[in-house]
Amino acid sequence: MTMRSKLMVGNWKMNGSLAANASLLSDILAGMAGVTCRAAVCSPFVYLPQLQVLLAGSSVASGAQDVSMHESGAFTGEVSASMLRDFGVRFAIVGHSERRQYHGETDAQVAAKAQRALAAGITPIVCVGESLVEREAGQTEAVVKRQLAAVIHANGHCISEIVVAYEPVWAIGTGRTATPEMAQQVHAVLRSQLQAATAHADRVSILYGGSMNAANAAELLAQPDVDGGLIGGAALKGPDFLCMLQAAS
Ligand code: G3P
Repeated sequence: MTMRSKLMVGNWKMNGSLAANASLLSDILAGMAGVTCRAAVCSPFVYLPQLQVLLAGSSVASGAQDVSMHESGAFTGEVSASMLRDFGVRFAIVGHSERRQYHGETDAQVAAKAQRALAAGITPIVCVGESLVEREAGQTEAVVKRQLAAVIHANGHCISEIVVAYEPVWAIGTGRTATPEMAQQVHAVLRSQLQAATAHADRVSILYGGSMNAANAAELLAQPDVDGGLIGGAALKGPDFLCMLQAAS
């Protein structure tokens, strides 16, 4: 029996407005009765002050969708981990496939971002995942292990404090979800890799992301190494996100 309570994280991506966020968070907070899992929402940087106010006193934490790998300085447009802490941010997604794809983020840069987050007391949600071409070429295990290895190498001494999110790229935003068995197979590989790196691997939550929704969340969360979800589109709908929080409770 795992000691890990489930963690459900909404990744809003580049969506929202002050009005829409207030409405969505009002719906979510109104429906938290009976929710026992951990929950967080990751908004665009500009809305983190709003989340700090609206989530104050609630059990829902806030998160960022990226963090600079630098402490401070001449890095125009970037946001540091300490700046995120100023707004009560608890989580930071690092290495999302969309940033690896559109911004050329490397495994080493993702590892450095995770390091900065940890140093500021923010939990990095380290995203790993293969493309469809890589899966069809039988490279899934090699790809996710390579991506996680860079983070372990840079953060070995505190690797048990990270969260990992397995997000098969071919399932993100496509409505084509990995089967529970496919997810469990990769999560078990990641768990084994963590066990080789730390005696506290069982403390690490491994989330699934990629078209998780109200209909499929329960069967995914029933897998022994699926410790929660990193949810995109479905997290923007209050009733759907609440349904998934209930499934994780
Ligand atoms: O970070 C979570 C995201 O990549 C998953 O998106 O829309 O497939 O749930 P979605």
